[in-house]
Amino acid sequence: MTMTTLPIQVQLTETKKPKPDSETLEFGRVFTDHMFIADYTEGQGWHDHRIVPYAPLSLDPASIIFHYGQTVFEGLKAYSSEDGVIRLFRPEENMKRMNLSSDRLCMPQIDEELALSGLLQLIEIDKDWIPNAEGTSLYIRPFIISTEKFLGVAPSRSYRFMIILSPVGSYYKEGIHPIKIKVESDYVRAVSGGTGTAKTAGNYASALKAQQVADAQGYSQVLWLDGVERKYVEEVGSMNIFFKINGEIITPAVNGSILEGITRKSILELLRHWEFPVTERKVSMDEISSAYENGQLEEIFGTGTAAVISPVGELNWKGEKMVVNNMEIGALSKKIYDTLTGIQTGKVKDPFDWVIELNQNLVKQL
Ligand code: COI
Repeated sequence: MTMTTLPIQVQLTETKKPKPDSETLEFGRVFTDHMFIADYTEGQGWHDHRIVPYAPLSLDPASIIFHYGQTVFEGLKAYSSEDGVIRLFRPEENMKRMNLSSDRLCMPQIDEELALSGLLQLIEIDKDWIPNAEGTSLYIRPFIISTEKFLGVAPSRSYRFMIILSPVGSYYKEGIHPIKIKVESDYVRAVSGGTGTAKTAGNYASALKAQQVADAQGYSQVLWLDGVERKYVEEVGSMNIFFKINGEIITPAVNGSILEGITRKSILELLRHWEFPVTERKVSMDEISSAYENGQLEEIFGTGTAAVISPVGELNWKGEKMVVNNMEIGALSKKIYDTLTGIQTGKVKDPFDWVIELNQNLVKQL
């Protein structure tokens, strides 16, 4: 991959914050010393790329973002390892997807190479924040907000692109232990033609209600069904979902309403590389329930950047509790988890060229 050098102003902080203890990290509560910013103005394009000390923003209260939610975001991770190498997992895929989301939200495209170059420089500056305890990483959150001061409903004419970094532990408190999920029957997340495939804030805000109800009932997340027939499985909201039924590994096909996860895509590539029987297709709750009744529902796991691989130990569908693999992590979920996290952290050979190693390839060129 060739990298473009970014004309970027760097202002370093004079007051470095204390670093958190790697062993007790939660997800997304602590942020590093610096952040990346670029501004967009109609007629001028993106300008003023800069890395500055992490600090609150000052925005006009009439900025479009606050009223109509015109915004997109991404999530990816950097890992440090004992050999001192910093690794990123398929970052170019995130930049590509951010542009797809922006297109759906009528927002300007970013130069993917420039954005990646800015990200790498930010990581180089804040690299001491990358935690090294087992299961931890530096979560990277690029996002774009609409900043025009205007209450009419129209695409903004100005934007701010930012990247912030957060040292994180597991997304779920269960870690790699199986979570319990409620199948959502009342609310829907998205329909084909809507914004379900875009990473935009509204998709997550509208999911909170169902998640709150599920949480009160002891479930970590909800599994969304299709918004039309309320029959077919879509995704979990913070992850895509896979089922192993009678030897076949199934994940819902992309259909215009689910998020096309980069971890999902990587696992499909991994399973095909292993020549495992894997299918992207419609899968209904009736099929899952029958498989459970027949003893053929072997494993369920969610996949996502934040969640990595999250085995599902119980699925509750309208009060029917399906306990999967005795609430233990299945052999396939474990194999995928070990391989994927092994590739991401450099412990397992990467036959796919998914990983970018910072110190060897890219930072030198910045
Ligand atoms: C990610 O997996 O990075 C996501 O963006 C999900 C998020 C809502 C935590």
